Amino acid sequence: MTEVELYTVYKGVYMPTLLHPPESLKFYEEFCFRPDDVLIVTYPKSGTTWMQDVAPLIQSGGDLVPIETVPNWDRVPWLEEHRAHQLNLEQRPSPRLFATHFHYDMMPPSYFSVKPKVIYVMRNPKDVFTSSFHYYGMASFLVNPGTQSDFLHKFLEGKVMFGSWFDHIRGWLGTREKERILYISYEEMIADLTASITKMAQFMDKALHPEVVEKIAESCVFHNMKRNKMSNYSTVPTEFMDQSKSSFFRKGISGDWKNQLTVSESEYFDSVYKDKMKDVKYNFAWD
Ligand code: A3P
Repeated sequence: MTEVELYTVYKGVYMPTLLHPPESLKFYEEFCFRPDDVLIVTYPKSGTTWMQDVAPLIQSGGDLVPIETVPNWDRVPWLEEHRAHQLNLEQRPSPRLFATHFHYDMMPPSYFSVKPKVIYVMRNPKDVFTSSFHYYGMASFLVNPGTQSDFLHKFLEGKVMFGSWFDHIRGWLGTREKERILYISYEEMIADLTASITKMAQFMDKALHPEVVEKIAESCVFHNMKRNKMSNYSTVPTEFMDQSKSSFFRKGISGDWKNQLTVSESEYFDSVYKDKMKDVKYNFAWD
């Protein structure tokens, strides 16, 4: 099926219509944040699911009940998804945890007046591309990626769900309310999950004993999360996500793009990256 059949254009970007019907987008537009809400913001395939385990465990002080009993999409709901308006989020106690893939300039009015906390997770775009390529091949609500070369062009031009990776990063790095945002990368989490959890806990004003941090890190390593049916999407019907084509928990490493991109694709990626990011001053973990 085509983009016209499967996607809605909302605030200039493609969004899969099945997951984001008009009433969900209206709900988010009118949503009221609280100052102590913590919002996990990511471009898709950058480590959202990982954070949907890490953040609740920080909040619960290492109690595993939230990740063992509640599916990730209800535990840390995406505010733009169809589930959000069915979950009575107004009744949830503070601090609430949410996720969003929205670009900065797509955020609803309440975000700008209330300024909740944001954890912005970034990942090497070549690995985001690689992960996306496999994901688009197994999720029926996304347009089939076609050939790798076709998909590379679509990805670099932002003709994919949630638009351009470059615009997403540039928008969220360019905000004024930096003291309310923790920037963290997938690569940092891979390199030292314990240190990353400690950093996030400080940002969330949660004092954790080092043993608790270790316990959280252990339950959030790739192979443990992959086993947890409340996190691994195994309860999603195959007609929506066919994990026999590609597992949602696919590889969970950094640098897999080296196994995916040809030399010329990688060089082309670099040239687009260099151009689009030329005025962005940030020390990315992958540079
Ligand atoms: P790969 O496809 O490269 O394996 P998102 O949740 O934003 O959609 O991102 C999905 C990517 O994060 C997938 O990458 C998935 O395997 C990876 N991921 C999820 N949990 C992880 C974990 N605990 N450790 C490392 N990578 C993880």
